[in-house]
Amino acid sequence: MKEGRKFLHFLDSEEYDKIVPESDEQKKVPPPLFQQSFPEDSPLIDLIPPDDFNIGKTPFLELVNSRQSRRKYTLDPLTLEELSFLLWSTQGVKNVLKSGRGVKRTVPSAGAKSPLETYLVINRVEGLEPGLYRYISFSHQLLFLKTIDNAEETMGKLSFDQKFVGIAPLIFCWTAVPYRTEWRYTILSHKFIAIDLGIVCQALYLSCEAVNLGTVAIGYYEQNKLDKLFDLNTDEEFVVLIAPVGRYEREKKLTEFFKYAEKDITPGILKRLEGVYKRKNLVEFLIREGNLILKIDDFEEVLDPYNELEFIGEQSCRALRFEFTEEGRPGKIVVLTANDEEIDFEYVE
Ligand SMILES: Cc1cc2nc3c(=O)[nH]c(=O)nc-3n(C[C@H](O)[C@H](O)[C@H](O)COP(=O)(O)O)c2cc1C
Repeated sequence: MKEGRKFLHFLDSEEYDKIVPESDEQKKVPPPLFQQSFPEDSPLIDLIPPDDFNIGKTPFLELVNSRQSRRKYTLDPLTLEELSFLLWSTQGVKNVLKSGRGVKRTVPSAGAKSPLETYLVINRVEGLEPGLYRYISFSHQLLFLKTIDNAEETMGKLSFDQKFVGIAPLIFCWTAVPYRTEWRYTILSHKFIAIDLGIVCQALYLSCEAVNLGTVAIGYYEQNKLDKLFDLNTDEEFVVLIAPVGRYEREKKLTEFFKYAEKDITPGILKRLEGVYKRKNLVEFLIREGNLILKIDDFEEVLDPYNELEFIGEQSCRALRFEFTEEGRPGKIVVLTANDEEIDFEYVE
C-alpha cells in the first residue's frame, strides 16, 4: 500500500534532472489535441452562452457554507440553462493559448493542459433526448453520442449499486486523457491530473449549490464496464470520477430524527448495547470499547453514531438512533438512510 503513496510526492530540484525524462514537448513533438476529436459533420447542440445566464448569483460565502454532498433528488428535469451553467463553471473555455500548448478555462489545470473530458448521462434535461453526450468545450456545445438501454438501472449498477446515482436527472462522468499532461510533465503528470480532477469536482459542487442543485462525488464505480459503455480507447482515455446531479428536497432535520431518542448516548450506554445488529446478514453494527463499529464481512469501520453520513455498501446512512425499552434495556437501533427512510435493526443477544 505504501508504494501507492509515492504518487502523491513531488521531487527535490537535485533529483529532477536525474529522474525526470525528456518530455515529448522538449523533443519537439507537436502538442496533443486538448479536446477529443469527433466527426466534422456531427450535429452539435448549442448551449446557453455564459453572458445570457440568469442563474447562479448566490453570494460566494453562502455557497461555501451550504455545500454538502446531496444524494436524494426529485424527479424534476433540469433546464438547459442549468446544464449550460454547470458545464461552463466546470470546464468552460476562455481561450486557447496562442502557442497551441494549452487551454485557459474557468478552472485551473497544471500547465493549462486540461487532461479531462466531460461526458454526461442525461436522463431528464428539458429539450434533450436521454442518452450519452460529451461536452464540446471549445465551442460550448453538446455532442450526442448514443442512447443507453435502461440507463437508470445501468448507471446505478455501474456505481456499485448506489441506486441514487442512476436515477439522477443528470450524471457527470469525467474521463482523463493523460497524454495531454504527460506531453510536458512525463512521470510527474499523474498527481497533477488527480489535482485537476479534484478542482473540477469542487467547481461542480459549488456551481450546483449556486443554482439549488445537489451533487456528490462518486469514487465507487465499475471501471472497465463504464469505460466499455462509453466506448473508450482505454490506452488513452478512461473514466476517473462520476457525479450525479439533481434538484433536491430538504433533508429531514437531524433534530427531528433524534427527538425520539430518550437518552444521550454515552460510552457506558454503548457498552450496554454490546451485541450485533443485523439486517439480512449484510450489515452488522457492533459495540466495542465504547465505539460503534460497522462491519460488512471483513470490512470494519468506526462510525460516529450521530451525524456522519457513511457509505455502507447497500445503502448510505445519515444517522443512527438507539431506542430503549421502558425497562431501560437496549431495544433497537434505527438507521436514517440517505433516502430519509428509517430502518429498524433488531437487537440480537
Ligand atoms: C473522491 C471522492 C469519492 C467519493 N465517493 C463517494 C461514493 O462513492 N459514494 C458516496 O455516497 N459518497 C462519496 N463521496 C462523498 C463523501 O462521502 C463526502 O464528500 C464526505 O462524506 C463529506 O461529506 P460532505 O461532502 O457532505 O461534506 C466521495 C467524495 C470524494 C471527494
